[in-house]
Amino acid sequence: MLLQATHLHYAYPEAGREHTVLRDVSLSLQAGEHVALVGSSGSGKSTLLNLLGGIDVPASGEIQLAGKLFSRLREPELTLFRRQHIGFIYQQFNLIPTLTVAENIILPLALLGITADEQQQRLRYWLEAVQLPTRGAAFPDQLSGGEQQRVAIARALIHQPALVLADEPTGNLDAKTGALVLDLLFSLADAAQQTLLVVTHSRTVAERAGRILVMVDGGINEGIYGEITTTFD
Ligand SMILES: Nc1ncnc2c1ncn2[C@@H]1O[C@H](COP(=O)(O)OP(=O)(O)OP(=O)(O)O)[C@@H](O)[C@H]1O
Ligand SMILES: [Mg+2]
Repeated sequence: MLLQATHLHYAYPEAGREHTVLRDVSLSLQAGEHVALVGSSGSGKSTLLNLLGGIDVPASGEIQLAGKLFSRLREPELTLFRRQHIGFIYQQFNLIPTLTVAENIILPLALLGITADEQQQRLRYWLEAVQLPTRGAAFPDQLSGGEQQRVAIARALIHQPALVLADEPTGNLDAKTGALVLDLLFSLADAAQQTLLVVTHSRTVAERAGRILVMVDGGINEGIYGEITTTFD
């Protein structure tokens, strides 16, 4: 078991009250499996991803990742743990506009204090892996959306995190580009035996995953393909 989350609760403060988004969410992910997380808009998918990725802390419940109870960590240990074990991919790419493609990709390595030599070595590998071997010196705004998302994939995987979390990674791409980006993400995660949790509104994306989880009313259900109809675009 790579990840085990149990009895997660989360609420956003709202005009003096609390708006509960996650109610008693439990899930587990096996090492190396690819899982889709679907559910209607506002059902709490991104909120859950932020908890699993250590960006937010659950109000109650536990998250164990790679044998470590990381939901109990606080700063600065939480940030260090996240940098070592987790990679994020967002719908909006979230590249740093003032850094080059190369600088964006090696950022996770720089933050972990990996030597400049090794950074450059891994950079060459990853620029090839995402099929952008000559674009290292470009800035994000000089790339197409699909190219930017490939940079984001390299950045999410370069430090070899055990868990890769992707929040609607093809949501801003046309169908053809999205399919290409998705192929790349799944095959690279496969090659590196990484566990992948992908939030999506696309049936095509969900069907690429080995397993599908459905968020409904702040809880999570194991989905059966044939029965899931309402949450896809
Ligand atoms: N920063 C925030 N402050 C207050 N409420 C929030 C915040 N972020 C999200 N919410 C609320 O929490 C609920 C869940 O939001 P979340 O973004 O997790 O949904 P989602 O399933 O990712 O939706 P989508 O498919 O549209 O991305 C929504 O009701 C949303 O309005
Ligand atoms: Mg979302």
